[in-house]
Amino acid sequence: MALDAPTEVADLARHARNVVVLTGAGMSAESGVPTFRDAQTGLWEQYDATALATPRAWNADPDLVWAWYQWRSALVRRAAPNAGHRALADWSRGADVRIVTQNVDDLHERAGSNVVAHLHGSLFAPRCDRCGQPFDQIDPPDEPAERTPPPRCDSCGGAARPGVVWFGEALPEEPWERALAAIANADLVVVVGTSGVVYPAAGLPSLAREAGVPTIEINPDVTDLTEQVDHIWRTTAARGLPILAACAN
Ligand code: APR
Repeated sequence: MALDAPTEVADLARHARNVVVLTGAGMSAESGVPTFRDAQTGLWEQYDATALATPRAWNADPDLVWAWYQWRSALVRRAAPNAGHRALADWSRGADVRIVTQNVDDLHERAGSNVVAHLHGSLFAPRCDRCGQPFDQIDPPDEPAERTPPPRCDSCGGAARPGVVWFGEALPEEPWERALAAIANADLVVVVGTSGVVYPAAGLPSLAREAGVPTIEINPDVTDLTEQVDHIWRTTAARGLPILAACAN
């Protein structure tokens, strides 16, 4: 792994005033939150995360899907922001750094960053699957289970569903509009820890590039976005971002 940022990447970070950072699951990997394409462990070994995060799975077995999200919420609560999250918050002392994330965790917020859009919702915003009414915070059980019935809605008796965007569901409009506006105003877009396979979020780097905004990918591996960005740095979030933030501040 490179210890210094590639020269052009460092120069861009040094001069940028309005930075948008698009993050995916790899951003939180070094906090111990598994990515979507990682194999799952323990209770969830036999399940594929990309199959559980669907309306189909919810309709077939809500108790299973609810228990999985409760387990993930508990895992995120125990996790702490990593050096990458903290570096993005530090970077905002010297530039306007706006986070557009696909992650449903709250690690950017806990690090102190300005999150302008949670494109795929949040683990901590359950709502009724029938009438849409928000639920208060629901604490995960002490002992994780493979099936947990979701609480029922006081107004209509529907079930609490996770406040996340599942495969095949539309993105919430306002966060999407905020993401587009942030990109339109950016002079640098940094793409961290996303495989770039889920649209429309994966279309944002191309939109930036078409608008003439330089784009950098930070990811240890080749992704579907690699061909669509201007600069690539093969490193991890927790290693690379502190170096970028130091260039800028
Ligand atoms: N630092 C940076 N990148 C990393 C790290 C790390 N420490 N570890 C892994 N990665 C990269 C992987 O190489 C991969 O490209 O993170 C990416 C994770 O990809 P995905 O698991 O596909 O996550 P993401 O792109 O966020 O998925 C998009 O799909 O499942 C849905 O809604 C869910 O928001 C999610 C969306």
